[in-house]
Amino acid sequence: MEQITALQLLFSILILFGKATSSSMVEERRTYIIHMDKSSMPVPFTTHHHWYTSTLASLDGIAPTHLYTYNHVMNGFSAVLTESQLEQLEKIPGHVASHPERFGQLHTTHTTNFLGLKKFAGLWPKGGFGDDMIIGILDTGIWPESESFKDHGMPPVPERWRGICEKGIDFNSSYCNKKLIGARSFSKGLKQLGIKISPRDDYDSPRDYFGHGTHTSSTATGSRVANANYFGYAEGTAVGVAPLARLAMYKVLFLNDTYESASSDTLAGIDQAIEDGVDLMSMSLGFIETPYWENPISLGAFAALEKGIFVSCSAGNRGPHAYTILNGAPWITTVGAGTIDRGFAASVTLGEGFATVEGKSVYPENLLVFGVPLYYGHGNTTKETCSSLDPKDIAGKIVAISPSDGEKVEEYLAKTKQPTVDIKFQVTNLGTKPAPQVAYFSSRGPARQSPWILKPDILAPGVEILAAWVPNRGFTPIGNDYLLTDFEIVSGTSMSSPHIVGIAALLKSAHRDWSSAAIRSAMMTTADIVDNSNGRFIDMTTGTSGTPLDFGAGHVNPNKALDPGLVYDIDVENYINFICALNYTQNQITAITRRSNYTCENANLDLNYPSFIVILNNTNTTSYNFKRILTNVADLKSVYRAVIQAPSGMKVVVEPMTISFGSKYSKANFSLSVEIDLGQFVVESDYIGNYGYLSWYEVNGKHSASSDTLAGIDQAIDDDVDVISLSLGFVFDPFFQNPISLGTFGAVEKGIFVACSAANSGPDAYSIMNGLRQWAQGPLIETMPLW
Ligand SMILES: *[C@@H]1O[C@H](CO)[C@@H](O)[C@H](O)[C@H]1NC(C)=O
Ligand SMILES: *[C@@H]1O[C@H](CO)[C@@H](O)[C@H](O)[C@H]1NC(C)=O
Ligand SMILES: *[C@@H]1O[C@H](CO)[C@@H](O)[C@H](O)[C@H]1NC(C)=O
Ligand SMILES: *[C@@H]1O[C@H](CO)[C@@H](O)[C@H](O)[C@H]1NC(C)=O
Ligand SMILES: *[C@@H]1O[C@H](CO)[C@@H](O)[C@H](O)[C@H]1NC(C)=O
Ligand SMILES: *[C@@H]1O[C@H](CO)[C@@H](O)[C@H](O)[C@H]1NC(C)=O
Ligand SMILES: *[C@@H]1O[C@H](CO)[C@@H](O)[C@H](O)[C@H]1NC(C)=O
Ligand SMILES: *[C@@H]1O[C@H](CO)[C@@H](O)[C@H](O)[C@H]1NC(C)=O
Repeated sequence: MEQITALQLLFSILILFGKATSSSMVEERRTYIIHMDKSSMPVPFTTHHHWYTSTLASLDGIAPTHLYTYNHVMNGFSAVLTESQLEQLEKIPGHVASHPERFGQLHTTHTTNFLGLKKFAGLWPKGGFGDDMIIGILDTGIWPESESFKDHGMPPVPERWRGICEKGIDFNSSYCNKKLIGARSFSKGLKQLGIKISPRDDYDSPRDYFGHGTHTSSTATGSRVANANYFGYAEGTAVGVAPLARLAMYKVLFLNDTYESASSDTLAGIDQAIEDGVDLMSMSLGFIETPYWENPISLGAFAALEKGIFVSCSAGNRGPHAYTILNGAPWITTVGAGTIDRGFAASVTLGEGFATVEGKSVYPENLLVFGVPLYYGHGNTTKETCSSLDPKDIAGKIVAISPSDGEKVEEYLAKTKQPTVDIKFQVTNLGTKPAPQVAYFSSRGPARQSPWILKPDILAPGVEILAAWVPNRGFTPIGNDYLLTDFEIVSGTSMSSPHIVGIAALLKSAHRDWSSAAIRSAMMTTADIVDNSNGRFIDMTTGTSGTPLDFGAGHVNPNKALDPGLVYDIDVENYINFICALNYTQNQITAITRRSNYTCENANLDLNYPSFIVILNNTNTTSYNFKRILTNVADLKSVYRAVIQAPSGMKVVVEPMTISFGSKYSKANFSLSVEIDLGQFVVESDYIGNYGYLSWYEVNGKHSASSDTLAGIDQAIDDDVDVISLSLGFVFDPFFQNPISLGTFGAVEKGIFVACSAANSGPDAYSIMNGLRQWAQGPLIETMPLW
């Protein structure tokens, strides 16, 4: 059949060539996606598929090639057509819309584009694409056959590498290569608890069962993969942030019948990674925040720090409450999640054409949801707002829609006894604004264990990130079944940490002599603090400006981090002095530092951190004096001048205001004193706290900026040398609680289209209304990782 088609095609072309006399002889054929109105289907056809294929066959010219009939995502099909055939098609009754297939416009892990990484300039080439850097990832394992871990053209494994590729269930040493240079698994602790690794759903080996580890690994270090996509969404070339860096997987998370990881295994994994010789580490997992000496990640990261290993961790997905940060130890780079300028959408038709609204979705393209019952908890506020849903009421699929469309939904519901919806899925929008925004789920500062250090440190892409996945595990539930895919779109701070570790690998490669604190400082002080609409970052939870408690120093800007001018460095001793100041017992301090005779003479909470935070604890006035040491990492001597932008109610004085640096690596001290008087403080309802910026501008340097006007400051901040966020934390207790997500998660499991009202809720800015609004605009909970 296919052969015949091919012969016909060849034949037609030959004839065309034979007859050709003018230049317009062979029309270009392209793939188009054609949306049709099923209700216009002529009577003789029994299936819409038949209708489409017959229609295609009736078109003049070279027979079109039918690709797919979409049964669920949309009404319609895709086919390879000439432009004149498309014109014919568009005249057929029932044609709704058509658009060409999008190839290559989207660069998946489009995030490398969004981050401004370019092949011939900036951090990518300067950082050798991460060449010679070894990144250890602690996660759910790895799918070694994934295209993202191919080692085409990579040089031999660095000789210093001591890791191995461990043998185990469905895994052996031949699965490693010059990209994936190590893979191990750590489950003794888990087994010790009497927990068995599920032989059905997991592997007692480094092989990934879940997809999470494959996803994070390919985000950080994945090789180029052309034509990556998730059921047609986000089509493009997938490439990791540090595509030439080497990868070592340390599997510490296993499935039995719950998702469980033993801290002993995590520690063993970190320990082994250090032993094996990784240069950087990323951990997209978290334990409940206990004092640092009890927490395997803060313990492991401290040991890594001493070896000069850079450690980044996800901040957690427990936002938007204050004090929800995980992995907030000052020696860890704590990464929050932001959106990127890409959106995936579905359109929802209420009833038979009552109204059409658009909502966010990454539902697989080749499916149609048609005539699905619509559930709405009419007359019961807790049900209307989805704060509490009864699983008995619901069974189907969910698409979150925005509250302005909610009115249409309510209007429709009022008119209909048995409401139904049709849903079309397929839309990928690029260049969406504003971006980045702070993901509603991203955990917020302050950090419970040490609120004196502003956390999170930085924001990186973490919403709807496409990266490699395990091909044998369905993630997208369709009825009782799951669809399989090589690439998956996932959201979470889990996705943000591997972006930062990739960028850190590039920076470490470009600046071999930088400490981990210097690398973090470079990223923080050059982070973007305005979005692609030139506004302050929106917090998805409130729809208004966030604060450094949401986004830290800002959104990472890799190319700027290459050349920060100045850094705030921290050495091991500084960290130990900080730990001393936490008033831990000697044993607790020893547990972290492995030093038994440390005298703690210089205990000090004021680390040389690139940010400042003052907490008002039941008081209206306070003052604090910070001390900092700047290190010149530019090649030349230079002079910097401080510019302060402080909000009302906060008086900030920097001394001295002008600092001269000698040669590279010369240091200079300054102090920053803050006085806060809440009496004059203008409380803006959309702030959880208030904040300002301290910027150091190089005088007559390449980054020099005028400092004469306020407007000048705004501009300057955009391309500054050194931005330090100064945050005054005064933390309101947010109203909204997790039941919203818990309630709807139940719905997702049972499935149905659930509409949540946002119209009837409380009066103030922190009411559940905003929570829901942003919930509705947030990513689907279906795509949320479990940690
Ligand atoms: C490893 O697995 C490959 C592929 O399944 C197989 O060909 C090879 O013999 C195995 N090697 C060892 C040492 O088991
Ligand atoms: C999985 O772990 C949980 C939590 O420790 C335990 O309750 C459960 O029995 C374990 N399941 C299996 C099959 O070992
Ligand atoms: C509303 O629904 C909730 C959750 O199902 C239930 O507990 C409550 O009793 C209902 N309230 C009213 C007024 O029916
Ligand atoms: C540690 O103890 C000292 C002396 O009691 C106290 O002033 C300080 O506030 C304590 N620090 C912390 C972090 O609790
Ligand atoms: C602390 O112990 C180390 C060895 O563990 C030793 O080298 C050092 O001199 C000791 N320092 C003090 C102050 O006793
Ligand atoms: C705030 O004060 C309370 C007691 O009034 C204390 O328990 C708490 O630790 C303080 N928090 C901070 C961050 O200092
Ligand atoms: C802080 O200011 C508020 C409002 O002006 C006032 O009600 C409160 O008593 C003040 N608290 C203290 C500790 O001075
Ligand atoms: C900076 O301050 C520290 C301690 O306050 C001091 O030891 C150091 O000498 C100072 N460095 C410079 C360059 O002034």
